[in-house]
Amino acid sequence: MNVSTSPSTMWALSLTFSLSFMLASSVTYKPVIFMHGIFSDGKSGEKLLGWIKEAHPGTETLSIAMYEHLDSLKNMNEQVHDVGIQMMNFMKKHPEGINIICYSQGGLVCRGVLEQLEHNVHTFISLSVPQAGQFGDTDFVKYVFPQFLRDNVYRIAYTKEGQEISVGNYWNDPHHQDLYRNASQFLAVINNDTYNARSEEYRNNFLRLKQLVMIGGPNDGVITPWQSSHFGFYDKKLNIVEMKDQAWYKEDRFGLQTLDKRGALVTRVVPHVFHFDWHSNKTICDIYILPFLT
Ligand SMILES: *[C@@H]1O[C@H](CO)[C@@H](O)[C@H](O)[C@H]1NC(C)=O
Ligand SMILES: *[C@@H]1O[C@H](CO)[C@@H](O)[C@H](O)[C@H]1NC(C)=O
Ligand SMILES: *[C@@H]1O[C@H](CO)[C@@H](O)[C@H](O)[C@H]1NC(C)=O
Repeated sequence: MNVSTSPSTMWALSLTFSLSFMLASSVTYKPVIFMHGIFSDGKSGEKLLGWIKEAHPGTETLSIAMYEHLDSLKNMNEQVHDVGIQMMNFMKKHPEGINIICYSQGGLVCRGVLEQLEHNVHTFISLSVPQAGQFGDTDFVKYVFPQFLRDNVYRIAYTKEGQEISVGNYWNDPHHQDLYRNASQFLAVINNDTYNARSEEYRNNFLRLKQLVMIGGPNDGVITPWQSSHFGFYDKKLNIVEMKDQAWYKEDRFGLQTLDKRGALVTRVVPHVFHFDWHSNKTICDIYILPFLT
């Protein structure tokens, strides 16, 4: 085959090349923070952040390496405070706004930050996060409260000592809602299920978000009920009450309904993913995460 490259073809090729180069380099991606889950660490985010940089060259990233391993069991408000300082420092360097991906318990730390601080987070990707709380005998709960079965965890979770443990802070026992509202120093506060003098401020901060993407699914195996990853939860009879039928949604107590009405709420139900695989599954990254990171 004889390929002739006339000067005009060459010229056209180089013009196309420089144009596409200019287009490509004019795309800038917002910086991304990853926040890890319980018993885990900052390193656990490296694979996902690597894929993101491959697909979106030039993305600046930060994986939060605080409250790692057993320290992840510490009080949630303490975690929100310290992680919030690190996140805000990163945001100050990026006044154009950032995106955050927060996994499992880390997603509750992130929601605390989003409600308590004047952040500039554009998109919050909530990756299998017990947003409405946890009520299940999963291995990690057994590890934290070994001698208790699900229906008895409240006896320790809703005490002063239990509230020093992260899981106690978002333990949501449908049979003991009065105790939960009285004792929960974290989940009940950020959901405005209990008195919070700063509830208006929390709502206004939360509404600085441009988009909330909630990813979770029925084969998760840890988040219980799994619908908690989409703000659904059990009623007293252990039937699922979806987000839109929850009191705090209907009364818009922390801004979720307003976000939804703005078209800023994205829900993705993804089957066949086990809890510990969400952040290390490339398909999840390609289909459910990358399209939202612009
Ligand atoms: C509410 O919690 C406080 C301590 O935080 C406790 O003294 C009080 O007895 C609790 N009330 C109920 C009704 O559980
Ligand atoms: C939070 O709940 C209280 C009542 O429990 C209510 O007075 C207050 O307006 C709520 N805050 C927001 C932001 O809706
Ligand atoms: C990865 O995610 C896809 C869904 O997008 C799922 O079908 C598949 O089973 C997952 N693989 C693993 C190892 O979790």
